[in-house]
Amino acid sequence: MNPISTPSRSTAPESVPLLDLRRQYNAIREEVLAAIARVCDSQSFILGPEVEALEREIGALTGAPCAVGCASGTEALWLALVAAGVKPGDSVITTAFSFFASASAIVRAGAMPVFVDVDAGTLNLDATLVDRQLRTRRPENVRAILPVHLYGQCANMDQFDHLVKDFAQELKIAIVEDAAQAIGAEWNGRGAGSLGATAAFSFYPTKNLSAYGDAGIVTTTCPQLAEHMRQLRNHGSPRRYYHDEFGWNGRMDAIQAAVLRVKLPHIADWNHSRRQHAATYDRLFASAGLTAIHTSNQGSNDRAAPVRLLERSPQAKHVFHQYVIRARRRDDLRNFLAERKIGSEIYYPLPLHLQPAFAYLGLKAGDLPVSEQAATEVLALPMFPELTEAEIGWVVESIAEFYS
Ligand SMILES: Cc1ncc(COP(=O)(O)O)c(C=O)c1O
Repeated sequence: MNPISTPSRSTAPESVPLLDLRRQYNAIREEVLAAIARVCDSQSFILGPEVEALEREIGALTGAPCAVGCASGTEALWLALVAAGVKPGDSVITTAFSFFASASAIVRAGAMPVFVDVDAGTLNLDATLVDRQLRTRRPENVRAILPVHLYGQCANMDQFDHLVKDFAQELKIAIVEDAAQAIGAEWNGRGAGSLGATAAFSFYPTKNLSAYGDAGIVTTTCPQLAEHMRQLRNHGSPRRYYHDEFGWNGRMDAIQAAVLRVKLPHIADWNHSRRQHAATYDRLFASAGLTAIHTSNQGSNDRAAPVRLLERSPQAKHVFHQYVIRARRRDDLRNFLAERKIGSEIYYPLPLHLQPAFAYLGLKAGDLPVSEQAATEVLALPMFPELTEAEIGWVVESIAEFYS
């Protein structure tokens, strides 16, 4: 008997993409085209009323009263760091297991990234290791800690809050959230984006809330920081052709804001669907006898299990930007899935401390073993709101066949 009770080979889907944006587009096409036409009719293409409206709406969603629209998530990170006080000569502690921009934005702010390993369960920045780094290595001029809410699950913000308080006498450290993957996520009922001094979101087309090009936004609870970021995103200019400092062209296009405003009312439902899909994956993997949970304390509770799920923090409302497993013989599995036209991706194959661009920091293989191990095991499976249960069933059945 098929334990998964999902499509048999004869009814299996021809392919299962990692992400299919067309299904979403088909559902909202008329509204999106009308929004783009509205901007064209207005002939106002940069910042302006669409961006201001989006800023108010994102503020309401995240619970951070101030939001500043900008050109990309990378730009948002740079703004978030500079507004939080990071300047040339400072250091910023961050995770080694993230997209390159989490760390390159630190370099662009003139600071030095200090890479710290991740928690083995969640793969988010490990606050206990950050604490140890601060106590024993004492990196110079630490100005900020930049946790990434990886795959849509918030890093342990209670621990980071404690840490900032513990060191408050000696160091003034800001928490800057990289929330690029976590729009709508929560920690203890508080929205990602309202948990640190500043936070950066990306609206890159693959993100949970995605533009039709590049766009990003920074949030903060502090109006003064928001004002500073508004100035920085526009060449450090408080008024036209007068420049108080060196900013950049980091402005958001009105067309992107208009598209995002069509999508924003759907984000709660879309994130809910993602959570349901994750629960379906979990259930089908368990009933196929394939999984164990990889916990931070004990490692996997079953080392022999071919598939290990990441740990889910009880305080976190996860939005499953990605559904990621840790797989035995990961690369062979990925090839097997590709032959069946099932999409998958590796986020991330090489930790940041081993990227050639960061060779100047002098870190080497073996320095951050949890990130390095994760890089050889993680595999993101198809995940988007319109995914069907039959497609998930086929993915799990295919993985079961690979390990049979
Ligand atoms: C964790 C993380 N940080 C930063 C970024 C950068 O965002 P963007 O591509 O919009 O510049 C991304 C997305 O690509 C990301 O996943």
